[in-house]
Order: sequence, then structure tokens, then C-alpha cells
Amino acid sequence: MDKELVLVVDFGGQYAQLIARRVREAGAYSELVPYNISFEEFSNKNPKALVLTGGPSDIYANNAPRLDEKILHSGVPILGICYGFQYLADAFGGIVDKAALGEYGSTKANIVADSILLKDSPSEQKVWMSHGVAVNQAPEGFLVTSKTPGAPVAAMENANLGIYGVQWHPEVKHTPLGQDVFVRFLRDAAKLKLDYNANSIIDEQVAKIRQEVGNNKVICGLSGGVDSAVAAALVHKAIGDQLTCVFIDHGLLRQDEAKQVEDDFTAAFGIKLVVQNEKERFLGKLSGVTEPEKKRKIIGREFIRSFEASVRNLVESGEDIKFLVQGTLYPDVVESGVGAGAANIKSHHNVGGLPDDLQFSLIEPLRTLFKDEVREVGRKLGIPEVIVSRQPFPGPGLAIRIIGEITEERLDILRRADAIAREELTNAGLDNEIWQCPVVLLANVHSVGVQGDGRTYGMPIVLRPVSSEDAMTADWTHVPYDVLGKISNRICNEVREINRVVLDVTSKPPGTIEWE
Ligand code: XMP
Repeated sequence: MDKELVLVVDFGGQYAQLIARRVREAGAYSELVPYNISFEEFSNKNPKALVLTGGPSDIYANNAPRLDEKILHSGVPILGICYGFQYLADAFGGIVDKAALGEYGSTKANIVADSILLKDSPSEQKVWMSHGVAVNQAPEGFLVTSKTPGAPVAAMENANLGIYGVQWHPEVKHTPLGQDVFVRFLRDAAKLKLDYNANSIIDEQVAKIRQEVGNNKVICGLSGGVDSAVAAALVHKAIGDQLTCVFIDHGLLRQDEAKQVEDDFTAAFGIKLVVQNEKERFLGKLSGVTEPEKKRKIIGREFIRSFEASVRNLVESGEDIKFLVQGTLYPDVVESGVGAGAANIKSHHNVGGLPDDLQFSLIEPLRTLFKDEVREVGRKLGIPEVIVSRQPFPGPGLAIRIIGEITEERLDILRRADAIAREELTNAGLDNEIWQCPVVLLANVHSVGVQGDGRTYGMPIVLRPVSSEDAMTADWTHVPYDVLGKISNRICNEVREINRVVLDVTSKPPGTIEWE
């Protein structure tokens, strides 16, 4: 089954990925492409609709980004957003100029004509704007469908040409009726079936994996996180026992995480699993190490060595393994195309870098998916909710949440404190609001306290709850005081070694999410 493709044409807007996600939420598969995509590539992709994103440029500037004219006039329905909208107005002969009144933030839009894009929409609605340029006059033949105080033409369309646009940002949460705009454009203007969903993703991937793999053997490293679990479950659904998973237990996971991988996931699914217990190896190599980058490098290196040893054992025992599963996601694919030259703030570790004599072909079943889709696919496949909804957790694990040397005892203290914090945040219903909440042990700091009638001299625990869209930037989450109070009380009462709980109220930047 060929799925209907919507191209999201990136004019440099900060919401390009968000728009691609909204299109998918509406039920159509979307891909991001740069605005200078060639007509040939466009034709090869055979898209059924285009969405043009916003961007930082002024349309009347000399080198303002524009689409290839042949794409513009190809007859494929187009929805323009913000800059994309202004570009369409300009390209079809409208008048676009500096706005008499710039609008930044929430604005009221009046709907002034019945239309496809805004059909049955309230005559007045809240929309989110960010523009200093406005369409003052729509092109000839276009119907003006909305106005705002700063935009004489805030939405317009020409159904014959298949051209639609809004000045506001329908993709952001602050435009409450924004999603309807995508649905009407895709369903009513572009006449798409909107049948892209978790089930269709699973069907498509399973068929693809079967075809790619044939009768060969496949290996997949599990990390305890959602991506590798979903990738493994998809591959297992496709080829069953031809898949073997490897789980390196480095002893740096949180309470119960290793058990959840072994018992609740792989055993429950009947997935062949090799567990390699490497706790001693990792603790040994990390002994005496306090410098964050050194910790990261050691863990990255030892992880690859352990994985390699485990794979080599399998190969030597006669398993003819040809493929390696990787949990690469769509944002990684998009960002690897543009993100060159970023400063190396921290060296992240990923499975990879296997030696030459252990080279496999890659299978990347999540390569076209966003994180929320991965979770949805995981749910449909029956992966336990504790794994599917797990918040991001760094590869080096608790090692970078103990400031100071890592010891078995400190890991145990941190695990108990972390489990309490997670339990209370979940009980308070805050999991969706919080991107993640690192719990950090300041192992080299001691402070005086009093418990019962006695003096204590214990370590502090830091709570670092953050809200974020993509972990590139983040803000500290304003967790209600009573929830913080409960976490603090329980940690000090139940974890004897801790006598102080502190809250990190730093955004990113300047602070990173993890402390190391
Ligand atoms: P920072 O601390 O750089 O973290 O603000 C950004 C996001 O990345 C996660 N993180 C990692 N993830 N391997 C990973 O897979 C790593 O080495 C690593 N270090 C940080 C962090 O938890 C946050 O979500």
C-alpha cells in the first residue's frame, strides 16, 4: 500500500517539525523538505499536498526564499503558514508589506467568509501570531476569509487553484482550533484519505522488515528506553525468532528498569534475550573517576566493548547474523542534515562503532517516526506503559547523576531517592507536563541536619524537573509546592543517608538538563 505523502516545505521556521507532526496527527504521512527542493525531486516524491512553513525572512527582501515556480503551479494543493502564507500572496500578485501593527502572541481573528479552510469555525477565535509583515491585499481571485487587527488579510483561499493560507500559526497549542485547519486542508481541500495511524505504520514496517531480512538473523541492543524496545517489538512481530536481543546491564539503570526489560517486555513477548551482566566491569573502570567527560568516555567505550563481546559470542556459537537494528528517529535524520558544526557540549553515547569484522546491514524501523508516534506504536504492540511512557534517560545512566565518584552504595542511595521522586510525580499526574526529572546526588557535599533528637551529617539530593519540546532548550517546571514537599519529606524519611532536598530552578541555557 502506497501511503499518501504530504511535503512540509521548510522556509526556516522554528516550527517545521511541529507542523510535520500535526499533519501526521491529522492522519497523513508527512516529510520535511527544504524550500529549494528541485522540481525533479518533488515530482519523484509525488506528494498529494504541500504545507509551507513560516520563516524569518521578509518576502519583499531581495533574496527571500521562494519555491521553484513549477512546483508552485503544479496543481498540488498548498497550505501556506505565516511566511509561507505571505509568500503565496506575493507569488499570486497580492500586496504584502510592513504591517501597520505587528502582532506577536495571542490575537483575535474574525472569520469573514464561508470557506473550505475555516468552514463551521466560530466567527471569532483565538489565534497565535508572530508577524511584522502583513498581506494588505489578497491576489485577484482569492477569497479573504479572516482578518485580525494587524492583518487585513489573515487567511485566504482560492479553491480552484488549490491555494490556501493563514497568517497565524495553527500548529501551536496557543491556537486552540489550529488542528482543524490542518484537517480541513488535508481532508476537504486535498481530498486525502487520512488513514495514516499507528496500525498502518506497523503494517507497513512489518512488511518492509520481512522483505529486507528474508530468512536472515537479526540482532538488537536494548537500552531500557522506549526507542530500542519499540524497534525490537516491531522487528519481532515481523520475523519472530530470527531476532535476538542483547541487553548490557551496566548497573547504572534506575530501580526496576532492568527487570522491566527482562520480565515485563522480552519474556512477555517471547523475544530471545541475551543479558550480559557487566556491573562489575563498569564499576571497576569507573572507580576513582569524578570528571564528567571521563565518565562518559569510559561508559561509551565499555558499552561498545561489552556489546561487541556479546555479539561475537553469538556469532561464534553459529548464529549467522546479518542485520543490526537501530532505533534512529526522524528528528535525528532531519537534524543530521543540518546540525553540522554544533559545539560538543557533552559526548553522548550510542550503540555503534562495531569493529570491521562485525559489520552488519542496518535496519531502522523508526527512521520515519517522531517520538510520540513511537510511543503510540509501542502501545499498539502491547509494550508495558512503564516502558512506553518512560521519560528520556541518558545512556550513561545514573553515573552522570552522581556528582563525584560512583560507588555501589551511592548508586543504591540515588536509586531509592529517584524511585520516590518518580512515584510522587506520577501520582500527582505531572508526567505529561514534565519532560524529565533528573534526580542528582551531590555525593561530595555534606550538610548538618537534625532528625529525631540527633545530629545528622548527610548528602543532599537535587530535583531537576524540566519542561521542554525537544531537550535543546528547557525551562524548570513549576511543580506544585505540596508535591515538592511530599517528595522532600519522603526522601529524607525513607533514605537515611539524605538529609536535605533542593530544587534546581535553572533553565537551559544556561544550565544543561543533566548535571554532568
Ligand atoms: P543535556 O544534559 O545535554 O541533555 O541538556 C539533553 C537530553 O539528552 C539526554 N542525555 C543523553 N542521552 N546519551 C543519551 O542517550 C547521553 O549520553 C546523554 N546525555 C544527556 C538528557 O537526559 C536530556 O534528555
